[in-house]
Amino acid sequence: MRTAKDFFAPLAVGAPAPLRETPARPSRAIHFFDPGNEKMAAKVPAMVGTTDVLLGNLEDAVKAENKDKARNGLVKIGQETDFGPTQLWTRINSLDSPWALDDLTRLVTEVGDKIDVVMVPKVKGPEDIHYIDRILAQLEAKGGVQRPILVHAILETARGVANIEEICGASPRMQGLSLGPADLAADRRMKTTRVGGGHPGYLVREDAPRDADGNSDFTAARPTYQQDLWHYTIARMVDACAMHGIFPYYGPFGDIADVVGCEDQFRNAFLLGCVGAWSLHPKQITIANKVFSPSVEDVAHARHVIAAMGDGTGAVMIDGKMEDDASVKQCRVMVALAEELAAIDPGLKKSYDAIPSEA
Ligand code: GLV
Ligand code: MG
Repeated sequence: MRTAKDFFAPLAVGAPAPLRETPARPSRAIHFFDPGNEKMAAKVPAMVGTTDVLLGNLEDAVKAENKDKARNGLVKIGQETDFGPTQLWTRINSLDSPWALDDLTRLVTEVGDKIDVVMVPKVKGPEDIHYIDRILAQLEAKGGVQRPILVHAILETARGVANIEEICGASPRMQGLSLGPADLAADRRMKTTRVGGGHPGYLVREDAPRDADGNSDFTAARPTYQQDLWHYTIARMVDACAMHGIFPYYGPFGDIADVVGCEDQFRNAFLLGCVGAWSLHPKQITIANKVFSPSVEDVAHARHVIAAMGDGTGAVMIDGKMEDDASVKQCRVMVALAEELAAIDPGLKKSYDAIPSEA
């Protein structure tokens, strides 16, 4: 058995102390780049400040023969780039691959102080997190890393979904979870061939209208409504993350040209409780920054309710709607997020500051 106090002790002599709370750092867009692709790597310094997170991807989408190149590229970028307010994350190769150990060893010992979060793919259970937790501690101690590197798991196996609460609670390093719809679809044997997004075949159809005799007319045209394939998984992920004080994210949306569909999927995730999504192209950064930032209208309304509710107890009527202790708590979530984002996004700060004050 692991005692509560064990969670507060480093897992290697000389490793930094684990955090007791997961920092809520803005991470609306996690922008993926291939550090082995010279053209892409050269653009990284100019992207600092344009996205909340830059993620050097070492896993899928990097060919086997380029794994060393990608890892070397990321070490170099880490050494040469000042990331300022932007977080640097990496997605390492999966734990059953021959590359994961070298990914961790090189990155933590050579640029460990620059890496905020290690994203671990294809996580199946808490044992995967325990493995990473100990190795990170050993490497942090070896490399003299001063603050603990956090861990983000991708939810992309059926076993991972079944073990979701245990994964979230497996280590104080746990920062969050992302939906990995492509691998998850494959692992679940879903009959789709896409990377995220909906599917026109997953729908409900209106009941057949009645004919003159009151019988269902099954020959009549009937409107259909496309449903969200990912609703269950995202809702499950949000609950598990909230329970453990960590953060849920929509993962990739592969149809880069479909900016409207992407925005819809991201917005559903935001409304359900996610704090960000992956970006596979700079235009998805713009979408994520917009969708995962509370709107000026929502912030204005939330401030209004908070002001009207005084000490936060009781009930008031605003524009014909009842507001009470529970709605003021929702409003506080909205305002707290707006304040965190305004602290790093001058454009947003300006629009939130322009909201007329209640006084
Ligand atoms: C992401 O890695 C996915 O599999 O969707
Ligand atoms: Mg995947």
